[in-house]
Amino acid sequence: MDHERPVEEEGDVVWPRDTPEETAEDPQGNQEDCFPIPLSALQPDSITGFDVFFRPGIEDLHALFLKADIPVTEAHRQDLSEQGIQEVYVAKADSTRCMRYIEEGLAGIMADKALDGTKRAKILYDTAVQIVRDVMDEPFNDETITRAVALTDTLTTWLFDEPKHLAHIFGSLSFRNLIATHSVNVCILGSALGRRLGLSQDELKTLSTGLLLHDLGKSMIDEAILTKSGRPTEDEWEIIKSHPEKGVELLEHSEQLDPLSLTVIRQHHEKCSGNGYPAGLKAREIHSYAKIAMLVDVYDAMTTQRSYAQAIDAYPALRTMQSEMGPEVDSQLLRQFIFMLSTRTAKPARAAKGAPRRAA
Ligand SMILES: [Fe+2]
Ligand SMILES: [Fe+2]
Repeated sequence: MDHERPVEEEGDVVWPRDTPEETAEDPQGNQEDCFPIPLSALQPDSITGFDVFFRPGIEDLHALFLKADIPVTEAHRQDLSEQGIQEVYVAKADSTRCMRYIEEGLAGIMADKALDGTKRAKILYDTAVQIVRDVMDEPFNDETITRAVALTDTLTTWLFDEPKHLAHIFGSLSFRNLIATHSVNVCILGSALGRRLGLSQDELKTLSTGLLLHDLGKSMIDEAILTKSGRPTEDEWEIIKSHPEKGVELLEHSEQLDPLSLTVIRQHHEKCSGNGYPAGLKAREIHSYAKIAMLVDVYDAMTTQRSYAQAIDAYPALRTMQSEMGPEVDSQLLRQFIFMLSTRTAKPARAAKGAPRRAA
């Protein structure tokens, strides 16, 4: 089963594109000028650097709530919360600034158990998608790699603290066919499986970083090849198959990544049967982290919309994987994955078989 992904498409925009600055100066705006963020994203004692608006009840009108240079206080949040307001608004011109503000406060947002778990999960997911987009745009920029590593740190800390809340983040997974959302889906599903299998927090972070960046090599491949709707030619297929090694080449000089994260990237298309690529490794030669990557990569590809195939639901996808991928996947891992999806918890099983303690 091959589940290569087309390149990212327009649509499903998490953060609006920047628009001219004038809208940020406007103390009021109509709905098209602003986008909502959860009130909980405003962190006390921080300075946003962008104006924050709220909707006082007048249709389509946003009133200025907080100037860009005024520190956020708990009283600010309470004030709106007591009025039943859960969302504030930001001018589209400030979308990049807003994204970075939320990203910088992400660890605090995720650790705040007073905040609704579903909303925290959504913030985490949206931030992760934006980081992957930036890494794909600038794979040579060390700062974007730093942001990706920081993100996986926050994700794994959250999975450790609240494994039972995994259901929150499942609700955030996007089923659109985008490289960035696919990368984040794979990261979350695979990290949750690693958590369930009993990995330590450091081990989980190593796995998680590899999963988040597993398809980074596609940023070096011609979009026309990745978006081609028909079958790729033999030459094109060879180019597509080079993406795991291209991803490793992009990252191997970074001191921020554990070598095992690179192994996940290099081996995520290897199959236990030996029919995978790039090296055609057999089961015992494939690191167990890469087996997790391969499993969740296929699952996510099957359950999201593709240009050449409809998305299928979770249950038929898992049945197909069981019936058609027998020799290709680690059956113990697949069993654990099915159990995790059905129970929606990443809490470690008492005796989780197939735990990836060592390279298989
Ligand atoms: Fe891939
Ligand atoms: Fe992938």
